[in-house]
Amino acid sequence: MKILVIGSGAREHAIVRKLALDAKNAQPAHALELYAAPGNPGIEQYATCVNIEATDIVRLLDFAEEEQIELAVVGPEAPLAEGIVDRFLERNLRVFGPTRNAAKLEASKAFTRELAQQAGIPSPYFEIFTDLTLARDYVRGLAGPIVVKADGLAAGKGVAIAQTSEEAEQVLHALMEEHTFAGAGDTVVIEQFLVGREVSAMAFVDESGYVLMPLIEDHKQLYAGDQGPNTGGMGTYSPVPFVSEEALSRIRTDVFDRILTQCRHAGIPFRGVLFAGLMMVDERPYLIEFNVRFGDPETQVALELLETDLLTIFEAVIDNRIAEVDVRFAKDAALCVVLTAEGYPESPRKGDLITGVAPTKDQEFVYTLHAGTSRANDSTALVTHGGRVLNVVGRGDSLAVARQRVYERIQQISFAGKHYREDIGTRA
Ligand SMILES: Nc1ncnc2c1ncn2[C@@H]1O[C@H](COP(=O)(O)OP(=O)(O)O)[C@@H](O)[C@H]1O
Ligand SMILES: [Mg+2]
Repeated sequence: MKILVIGSGAREHAIVRKLALDAKNAQPAHALELYAAPGNPGIEQYATCVNIEATDIVRLLDFAEEEQIELAVVGPEAPLAEGIVDRFLERNLRVFGPTRNAAKLEASKAFTRELAQQAGIPSPYFEIFTDLTLARDYVRGLAGPIVVKADGLAAGKGVAIAQTSEEAEQVLHALMEEHTFAGAGDTVVIEQFLVGREVSAMAFVDESGYVLMPLIEDHKQLYAGDQGPNTGGMGTYSPVPFVSEEALSRIRTDVFDRILTQCRHAGIPFRGVLFAGLMMVDERPYLIEFNVRFGDPETQVALELLETDLLTIFEAVIDNRIAEVDVRFAKDAALCVVLTAEGYPESPRKGDLITGVAPTKDQEFVYTLHAGTSRANDSTALVTHGGRVLNVVGRGDSLAVARQRVYERIQQISFAGKHYREDIGTRA
């Protein structure tokens, strides 16, 4: 079977790796012809990388038709928000991911806040503005912290937690007047600041039902102890120790059941992975946001624990029968630590030589995934090529064992400016 995975991060590396290993370990083993667009040097171990950007929908469509791709899997949010799934479906190509309408759950925070409110999902108090003067007047009456969000996609940089109303006004000015995120900040959502602990809940979703994956905690700040600037995520682990069975059942009933019912009523059925970013406040989940695809770096941990064949799940979701699939996760612990480049997240340096990541150095329960890497010109040498360079993923029968494996493996990897958090999975 010919499969195309769209994207170039460690998330896509994890997806491709899981598909390849599942095929190899199947009884009987079956062959997959894997392609990735654009992929990365780590993905090359399993798939043919095709030099087409994830947002170049026209060329992706042409490639899929010419190569007779039988299943496409979309990793990142940008092409989903652009309607890549609708375009593939129009051409009768099988594709895993939500349609453009359903992708609005991630692509518009204002739309989603209103939909979630209609659905009765516990949420922070919020107001939506399209007028700078009105938004300014509103924040002037508020005490900090004040959460100001650009409505549209902003590559994880569109949210500010302002400590004072003056700071909030500056953020509003940047978003709505200077257009720092182009049109994404023309509409803003101003929210109540919630105090609690964040957790990521991902589910495989179709119109027959949904399957929740194990809950995962991400570590967003750059430095240990949750210090420093926010990032795209510095590390993840599962299982999380701070969500009770009762709270988990509320995540199902109050968040997933409600949003999916509301989507059906609104005529926007969802197929793909739905990711809820939640703030647990006194054992109750409050909605921070939805993403309409696999999280990064959550996926790295979720797929390490997933025992069921991933292709079986993708095909079931496309055919609207996920409710019939027995999806199993290992009871083990898994951990993912992100290695970042000098200067991340502000202005990551590229071109630093990387050593120690050869797949031969990996073991069954600890391995590296590539994100921002590339091959140096005219050589096979690996160099840094983005802010989040590599991930190390490990597993064990306890978090302590997984941690030990990951941090030992990290010591074998070198590049100038290498940075990572030493405290992933240690917050009790
Ligand atoms: N209402 C809120 N209260 C407290 N913290 C919030 C709130 N909304 C967002 N945050 C924090 O800001 C981060 C980014 O916000 P989010 O809505 O997830 O946007 P994005 O991931 O698109 O940048 C969250 O992970 C959370 O840490
Ligand atoms: Mg988020």
